[in-house]
Amino acid sequence: MTTQQTDTTTEVPRMRIDCLSIFPGIIADALKHSIPGRAQANGLLQIHHHDLRTWATDKHSKVDDIPYGGGVGMVFKPEPAMAAIRELRAQGEALVIHPSPAAPRLTQADVIELSGHRHLIFLASRYEGLDQRVIDRCVDREYSIGDYVISGGELACAVMIDAVARMVPGVVAKQASVVEDSFYNGLLDYPHYTRPPVYEDMDVPAVLQSGNHEHIRRWRKREALARTLAHRPDLLEGAELDGEARTMLRELGWKPPRD
Ligand code: ADE
Repeated sequence: MTTQQTDTTTEVPRMRIDCLSIFPGIIADALKHSIPGRAQANGLLQIHHHDLRTWATDKHSKVDDIPYGGGVGMVFKPEPAMAAIRELRAQGEALVIHPSPAAPRLTQADVIELSGHRHLIFLASRYEGLDQRVIDRCVDREYSIGDYVISGGELACAVMIDAVARMVPGVVAKQASVVEDSFYNGLLDYPHYTRPPVYEDMDVPAVLQSGNHEHIRRWRKREALARTLAHRPDLLEGAELDGEARTMLRELGWKPPRD
């Protein structure tokens, strides 16, 4: 550990996260870099990775079994998952999250709410999922990361933890960059450019080089609205739109639902 890291580990962790899975390395590897990696190194975030098989009781450390009613695939058994959650919860109040493709899609509003909790427990299942009785008794939230299926819940846990970590105060040094991210204000982000001012035959928009902050603000707002209208018009229904935004949207051809 470097001297710099040692100096900052005296901070009290703002959040503890326990991850339960049969491939703890997948989640640990995904979160050891960049922002979530630094948040752990400087003590703002404590993540503990656990192998669910530790809580299996048979000699083969089995955590799954065949589904009742027949069909393909295996289902995570209740006993190891329930025992693991109960043991981790015994250390204090915690919110238990199970990623699932059969759940509501995680939104930035959910992420912000989750970042206010002190202790989260993520349970990653695989195959056909988790015995429903564990969900009914021990799981507080289920979220999907999108309308597609991935091979297991581990990467979904990593995605959710990364998103939550960014919202923990102090984790992202420049909070302005979080506030301007896509979805933070309910809209998609505007386009970004850096040097050189001309690349091949493509110019950086003149307004961004004008130094006129008011023109730049308006251009960015209009671009964010235009992108949202083009790619995610559903978001406009939930977004807080002021008079200026509504005018811009009308100019962009938007038909307000009730107006
Ligand atoms: N496990 C498999 N696919 C998933 C998804 N889309 N979201 C959350 N967990 C999953």
